[in-house]
Formats: sequence, C-alpha cells, structure tokens
Amino acid sequence: MANSPTGDSVTDRLVRVLETFTPSRTVQTAAEIGRRSGLPRSSAHRIVGELIDAGLLERDDDRRIRIGMRLWELATRSSQALRLRQAALPAMERVQARIREHTQLAVLEQDEALFLERLSGPTSGSNVTRIAGRLPLHASSSGLVLLAYGTRDLQERMLAGRLPRLTAETIADPTALRRKLAEVRTLGHAVAQGSIELVSTGVAVPVRDETGTVVAALSVVLPRDAPTAAALDELHRGRREIERTLGVRS
Ligand code: PHB
Repeated sequence: MANSPTGDSVTDRLVRVLETFTPSRTVQTAAEIGRRSGLPRSSAHRIVGELIDAGLLERDDDRRIRIGMRLWELATRSSQALRLRQAALPAMERVQARIREHTQLAVLEQDEALFLERLSGPTSGSNVTRIAGRLPLHASSSGLVLLAYGTRDLQERMLAGRLPRLTAETIADPTALRRKLAEVRTLGHAVAQGSIELVSTGVAVPVRDETGTVVAALSVVLPRDAPTAAALDELHRGRREIERTLGVRS
C-alpha cells in the first residue's frame, strides 16, 4: 500500500483511525478521531469520510461518528470466533441459568484475553468484562487459563514483561505468576479472587478443540466471597458440552 510522508501505509492509517474506538468510547466527533489517531487533521478527516462512504463508519444526526453496521457485518463473519461462539452459546446459557452469574467466553488475542460473549442476568453482580473487550492475561481468571495453556513463548514474554497491579490482589510478581500458572495446569481451572476488581472472583476452565489445543476459556464472575464449587462443576460440564460440539471425542 502507498506510504505517506511519515512512512506509514494506507492500512496503518486506517487502523489508527479505527483503533480510536474502544469498548468505552464508541461515539466520537471527526475532530476527536483526528486528535486520537495522531494523524494529520486533513488525512484523518479524509479517511473518516472514505470509511463513511464505504459504510464502515456511520455519522449520526449530531454528526458524531460510530462504527458502522457494515463493519460489524464483516467482522462477525470471522469464522473462528463465530464457530466458537456458536458452539459455546447453548452451554453458556445453561451455566448462566444454573449459576445466575455472568458467564463468558474468551480467546487469546495479542497477549490479552478477548471476550467473544458474555451472558448476564438481572441478579448478576459486578463485572468489568465487555463483549469485544479485553482483559490482561495475568489479572483475570480467563487470562490465567489462556496463559497457563499457552505456548512457552507467550508465557516467557508475559513473565518478562510488565505485570500491572490492578488491585492489591493482582499477581504482579513473575515468580508468583509462574507458580499460579503451574497450579492452574494441575487443577485444570483458575480462580482469581479480587484480582481485577476487589469485589469479584473469576473462575475459569480451558476449552479444547479436536486437536487438544486450548482454544478458549469459559468463565463465571462471582461475588468475591461466593463459594466456587458449584460454578466449577457447571463450568466443567459446559466445557465438555462445547468440546463435544467442536468434535472432541471423550
Ligand atoms: C475474572 O475473570 O477473573 C474476572 C473478570 C471480570 C471481573 C472480575 C473477574 O469483573
């Protein structure tokens, strides 16, 4: 793709514009997009205009801009995410109906846990997870599962990097994290109490595909001091159901 005077390609600039949208910032003015993208104003405005013409962004009556339905339509075709989500939904509904707390499905994406689905009920407690939102691997139960069963490369990269402390109970020390990952593999599940927010405990199990590779984490978010045994039973039942749908023989 053609490069700009600063050396970034058309695709780089497009991505910079699109990445100004976050789970908590879904509507912006063109000026805000320009500023947040770090691109020259005229270049950002041109790209925004072109994306609107293509239907990938939409402008509302107040001239504020949001992600367009066309982009959602294209992104939702992502075969792997869609296949996993569809395989998981019936089991997730059962877990949610029985435990009555947030039930979620996450995959590993660029060193973070990316959430493909979250089911919640009217009585479910606090939860910082959003669909299409991300959580750090070291600080969430899903992330700990994805990391514990991830490649050696991923583990060493995470252990050597920064481990931000989100609460007083986040595992921010590499030695303690290494120990926790070994525990997750021994137990076959992760419990993260107060790790991402002090009021909640995340509980997660790995989901494998037909090759035995862990492809997702299935989790529930409970009030901090709630018992975890029933949730773990349901998560394992749900996990087996999803794995059967994915073609895993037991
Ligand atoms: C977790 O998976 O550990 C988790 C996720 C979201 C929360 C709390 C815990 O709000």
